[in-house]
Amino acid sequence: MKKIIIAIDGFSSTGKSTIAKQLANKLNYIYVDTGAMYRAVTYFALEHNFIGDSFFYSEKLIEHLNQITITFKFNTVKGFAEVYLNGKNIEAEIRTLRVSQYVSPVATLSAVRRKLVEQQQLMGKDKGIVMDGRDIGTVVFPHAELKIYMIASAETRAKRRYKELVERGDHLSYEDVLENVTTRDRIDSTREDSPLVKADDAIEIDNSFLTIEAQLETILNLVSQHI
Ligand code: DC
Repeated sequence: MKKIIIAIDGFSSTGKSTIAKQLANKLNYIYVDTGAMYRAVTYFALEHNFIGDSFFYSEKLIEHLNQITITFKFNTVKGFAEVYLNGKNIEAEIRTLRVSQYVSPVATLSAVRRKLVEQQQLMGKDKGIVMDGRDIGTVVFPHAELKIYMIASAETRAKRRYKELVERGDHLSYEDVLENVTTRDRIDSTREDSPLVKADDAIEIDNSFLTIEAQLETILNLVSQHI
């Protein structure tokens, strides 16, 4: 069967990764969470004190980019690939609110984007891939056969993210999560390099009131038109 590239873009917590993972499992495709790659670079920057409460030594981070190797390894128990930074599994570390608070400024750096986009394009060279992020349909794979643009209200998204974080045992307020979601929306969509925009040929799905099953069915229908 013909293999295609499926690009899924959208604001934070639009449920892109939930759908992308299930879609990849159904189609036997590789799933790549590009947000995890930007989070891994941010985790590295935090660990090295290149970024913090009132400082960002972006030149230092750029100088050290060649010391960052990001890989993914499939976890058969969890059913998706976890992210590794220089051989260390950092899947749990990158999902904290702390990393979420610093990831958007890190993702504005063109040197960071160039490095990660190059790796993403290599991962998709044989197709058969579902990739989610902000610039997949516009920059990483402008010729992807299927592009989805997911939207949902900021409140719906913050509620989802809050529930996820509380279930993990994090102590934070809903207001903090909503503030993080809206701040990231603003930075991600107004940055100069590869801002989040809907590609002209992307299909928009508002999932505020759609079940995961309904979203999956809609996307699988679209996939069947291409393979
Ligand atoms: O999908 P996520 O919330 O885990 O992404 C974290 C951040 O990474 C997001 O706020 C912006 C950045 N990002 C990006 O700039 N480009 C991508 N392709 C994916 C994520």
